[in-house]
Amino acid sequence: AAQEQRPACDAARPQTPPPQEQQLRQAHVSSHPVETVTSYPYYLANEPIHGKEQLDVSNKYSGQVAYRVAVASPEEISRAIAAAEKAAPAMAAMGSYQRKEVLEHCVREFERRFEDLAISLCVEAGKPIKDSRGEVQRLIDTFKIAAEEATRLYGEFAPMDLSQRTKGFQSIVRRFPIGPVSMVSPFNFPLNLAAHKIAPALAVGCPFVLKPASRTPIGALIIAEILSSAPHLPLGAFSVLPCSREGADLFTTDPRFKLLTFTGSPSVGWEMKARAGKKAVVLELGGNAAAIIEDYRGPTELEAIIPKLTFGAFYQSGQSCISLQRLFVRHDHYEEVKEKLVWAVKQLKSGDPRQEDTFIGPLISQKEAQRVESWIADALSKGAKVLAGGTREGAIMEATLLEGVPRNCDVMQNEVFGPVLILERYAVYRDAINSVNDSKYGLQAGVFTHDLDKVWYAFEKLDVGGVVVGHVPSIRVDAQPYGGVKESGLGREGVRWTMKDMTEERVLMMANVGGP
Ligand code: SIN
Repeated sequence: AAQEQRPACDAARPQTPPPQEQQLRQAHVSSHPVETVTSYPYYLANEPIHGKEQLDVSNKYSGQVAYRVAVASPEEISRAIAAAEKAAPAMAAMGSYQRKEVLEHCVREFERRFEDLAISLCVEAGKPIKDSRGEVQRLIDTFKIAAEEATRLYGEFAPMDLSQRTKGFQSIVRRFPIGPVSMVSPFNFPLNLAAHKIAPALAVGCPFVLKPASRTPIGALIIAEILSSAPHLPLGAFSVLPCSREGADLFTTDPRFKLLTFTGSPSVGWEMKARAGKKAVVLELGGNAAAIIEDYRGPTELEAIIPKLTFGAFYQSGQSCISLQRLFVRHDHYEEVKEKLVWAVKQLKSGDPRQEDTFIGPLISQKEAQRVESWIADALSKGAKVLAGGTREGAIMEATLLEGVPRNCDVMQNEVFGPVLILERYAVYRDAINSVNDSKYGLQAGVFTHDLDKVWYAFEKLDVGGVVVGHVPSIRVDAQPYGGVKESGLGREGVRWTMKDMTEERVLMMANVGGP
């Protein structure tokens, strides 16, 4: 019955504005092809709405407007929350197989629209096309994991006859969906970091209202479009609402939400938590991730390590919370690693993210690229040396390798969120571990060693949410628990962990069941 209430799907398709309006938008940089501006609705209580107020979303490489997106007002956000609250009992009553079918429907549609999704991601985020395809694959993986987990929401049985007082007692603990969830997703993974909130909510049966990043809302709107043709979902099950800053406040403060899940910058995240009231809060924030190179088995292994380092530090221009920012190399390997790394960094091709061989695309804005450039300049003024890169053209910042960076520099202490890697040598492993921990952040760390004692030491001593051995900290598998300590966040994502956050345990105590 819920399905019958849904609007005709065609209304949800993106609409292209009239030709004369398109022409106005086509004042373009000469070397870039003319783009068509596509309009997207927002989704309120499962339905597409082509609102009056519009947000322009640019192609991050050409700077041209590529999409126009409807913006929800605070009143509309409030209506979406009311609809989510109303939908909560019906969502909770859905069978596991129905929740699974919703997720499987999404997987099929993502696979069918794979290239479409990759191209819009490449355009709205400036993400190189190869990385964009990688993210679409991860989107599919995340929804597949959630589809599997939807039927595995297991509980616990425990005997409760601990003493004479409770003789004959038994208990079952079961998880129940928490209710409406507020979601705020970031610009750097517009698909997969929205997926890490949406897919678990669908898997457990929580309605949600999501605010996508204003600079990259298209990915989440396409997910919403696909959800609008999914089976079983009651009206109000989901809303995806690009909105202004003042409207966004409700995502934090509205008491009808039972959980706020935010991915973004530490300053914004911790401030939201302070204003969130009684709802639970999960924060996935930033970091200045580090790796240690303690040992490797000769030149062949080093050849294999170098591309891992360039990937970790520079893929999608360092705009990942686990981008490799600090690399500590044991003194006797330092010169060899440095020489090979400098060469490899200089080979990275920057430019148009739609070209198959582009490795470094634009940062999300020219302003951000200027900030990164100014942080590099600050480090140089304090004695650091550039080994590779260091220059900027518009929003494109070259992959930059630095050494001799003093501790009191932004590039060392804060999250760069740009293509910058610091190289530092050390003598004693324990000191390298301490250097990694000498940070206000603690998301993930990487360790290259074949010594199991050193692996274990790192696991015990590194103050982070995840330790990666034999690879960079920038690796994340979507089924793993993911999150940080210290300023890097609160709680863990990863489908099973988010499902826990979106459910509450209830115990059934049974006295003398089956007894005479
Ligand atoms: C993040 O930037 O926090 C997410 C990194 C990832 O999912 O790979």
